[in-house]
Amino acid sequence: MLMHLTLQRDGVAREWSVQLPPANESGIASWEGASVSTALQVLQQTLDPKLGYALSCRRGLCKVCAMRIDGEVQTACTVPMRDGIRVEPAKARLALLDTVVELSLVRHSRAPIPVTSTALD
Ligand code: FES
Repeated sequence: MLMHLTLQRDGVAREWSVQLPPANESGIASWEGASVSTALQVLQQTLDPKLGYALSCRRGLCKVCAMRIDGEVQTACTVPMRDGIRVEPAKARLALLDTVVELSLVRHSRAPIPVTSTALD
């Protein structure tokens, strides 16, 4: 299955043709509905080992794979890959490497968790 993906890297849009390997060689039943995260994994493994993306739960729970997909910030692990899709970092000014953004600013902006005396007893 041949897919075309445009990835914004270092401020430059780069078009990639993603050749997904046959499903039976990948241990899955079908590529139908394969996620954007899966396509990025294939790109990293077959074309560019330096391609940056983040992935953890693969269920849309942790949000670590959030990126801008066709102009909307979404979790890449839950968005099905389709031909002609456009992928960018969620916030260009926070981009560290390709789709990976600096998250420590988000963590620091959270209110501290109050500690009660009973929790320390
Ligand atoms: S990997 Fe956790 S939401 Fe995508």
